[in-house]
Amino acid sequence: MLDLNELVSCTRCDLSLTRQRVVVGSGPSTPQLMVIGEAPGRSEDEGGEPFIGRSGQLLFRLLDEELGVTRSQCFVTNVVKCRPPANRTPTFIEIKTCRPWLDEQLAMITPRAVLALGNTAGRAVFGFESPMSAVHGRVVHLGAVPGLATYHPAAALRGGSGVVQVMRRDLTVLRQLLEAP
Ligand code: URA
Repeated sequence: MLDLNELVSCTRCDLSLTRQRVVVGSGPSTPQLMVIGEAPGRSEDEGGEPFIGRSGQLLFRLLDEELGVTRSQCFVTNVVKCRPPANRTPTFIEIKTCRPWLDEQLAMITPRAVLALGNTAGRAVFGFESPMSAVHGRVVHLGAVPGLATYHPAAALRGGSGVVQVMRRDLTVLRQLLEAP
């Protein structure tokens, strides 16, 4: 069995050579939401916490406005725990090598619902094979826990209000999941 305490010193892949900090993730063990992104960016690599940069600011504003859920009610992590150089997309090998850590977190955390952000997380968490444009907002289950994927907030920062509108609609579906008895 994996010991999550060992994640901070992981050297399973070459991202350990260029990272500053392993971004493990944090939050309560029975959160409203488990939020899973792709990989740390520059701010996260420096700060050691997921989604503390511009993407995170947008994400948590939308979660607050659409769901009334705050960061402290979420367990937040990424598919890959170390920053890929220049924020490139993590490789298949990096995702596969890091996977046991995410699996351990998925086994330990019992959220009301799961939110995957962007193609990498949608694929890794829910097994989606189609691009986000085809699968966003679709309700799926991880065992008994419902969830969905939506666009990554970085895509919204690049793509503007159209992407934000779609994310808001997807989060409305997520709100209904959280409100279900
Ligand atoms: N993008 C991600 O996918 N995760 C972070 O933690 C920050 C930016």
